[in-house]
Amino acid sequence: MNKTLGKTNIEVSPLGLGCWAIGGQFTLDGIPDGWGEVNDKESIEAIQAAIAMGINFFDTADAYGVGHSEQVLGQAVKERRNEVVIATKFGYTNNEATKEVFGRHDVSPAYIRQACERSLRRLETDYIDLYQIHVGGLSQEEMNSAIETLNRLREEGMIRSYGWSTWDAARAEQFALQSEGAAIQHPLNVLRGDAEMVSVCERYGLTSINNSPLAMGLLSGKFNPDSKLPDTDVRGSRHEWVTYFKEGKPVPAFLNKLEAVREILTSDNRTLVQGALAWLWGRSSAAIPIPGFKTRKQVEELAGAVARGPLSQEQMVEIEEILKPDIVLEHDRSRPQ
Ligand SMILES: NC(=O)c1ccc[n+]([C@@H]2O[C@H](COP(=O)([O-])OP(=O)(O)OC[C@H]3O[C@@H](n4cnc5c(N)ncnc54)[C@H](OP(=O)(O)O)[C@@H]3O)[C@@H](O)[C@H]2O)c1
Repeated sequence: MNKTLGKTNIEVSPLGLGCWAIGGQFTLDGIPDGWGEVNDKESIEAIQAAIAMGINFFDTADAYGVGHSEQVLGQAVKERRNEVVIATKFGYTNNEATKEVFGRHDVSPAYIRQACERSLRRLETDYIDLYQIHVGGLSQEEMNSAIETLNRLREEGMIRSYGWSTWDAARAEQFALQSEGAAIQHPLNVLRGDAEMVSVCERYGLTSINNSPLAMGLLSGKFNPDSKLPDTDVRGSRHEWVTYFKEGKPVPAFLNKLEAVREILTSDNRTLVQGALAWLWGRSSAAIPIPGFKTRKQVEELAGAVARGPLSQEQMVEIEEILKPDIVLEHDRSRPQ
């Protein structure tokens, strides 16, 4: 049931976990980019429970909580380092003292090396399994240079493989052609089918790591049109690229779409969250969703999806027929890149 990352021999569970929400509060260009308060003890318990349930793949970034997410993940897995696969990201410049991330980026060789060393320290490890460029809109020149540096870090054993977090299928294809990258991380969920990107990953043997697989929690079904998230939560922030929530409220059109496919997603005793993951596994064998979490209870529900497997092809077609005219293809272009 396990998969490998791209063409490497790094084995990962079909489900990973995203560690943005457990990073705690920080700001991006002065706007809250965390997910409200966090409890590190609870985050660590949740990660350890995930490992006990067979999940071995964890995605973080040096930007999440400006390093705090990496520290918490490092603490949680240090006794079982060889059993887990750690993916982290670099590229956005930040200030650890003020907990600020700036829209600016740096992917120069010296910066990447320094960022990698800092991530290794926070993660309490001497290698990163998958090192991802966080900045989706690099120029060709920047990409060439970043690939060269990543190849060097891999030769030196600081990283085992590398990938790119980008929404742009054309750039991803270029990356596939000129690198030995293992994965592309990109947004994908039942409300946002990105056929072009999935096709690039499948054609080039790259793992498609799916971020926001629950549409930032909207697909859990726990929100109604009156739900309001605080402005300390990224979903209540003023970031334009937050697609599924506006001013802290779930976008009604997305709630309606969820209702339209609820019955199919919850077939075979799946919860909505489990159905949303099953849709991704049905979408592509290259797909590895990395839902975010804050509690052990959430992790138990997420991990419970694995045994139920993908939706059937008939169910996938049914969902496509219901949502197709509306499937969201617009990209998070306003996110600083
Ligand atoms: N590369 C990038 O630019 C990028 C961008 C976005 C995300 N990511 C990565 O992808 C990961 C996941 O994406 P995401 O954080 O945007 O959102 P997501 O996975 O779509 O949604 C995660 C949120 O859903 C809620 N949730 C999770 N399990 C639940 C359950 N069982 N029942 C009810 N609610 C549940 C939790 O929020 P609450 O409990 O707070 O409601 C959780 O934080 C991130 O952690 C990060 O690693 C990367």
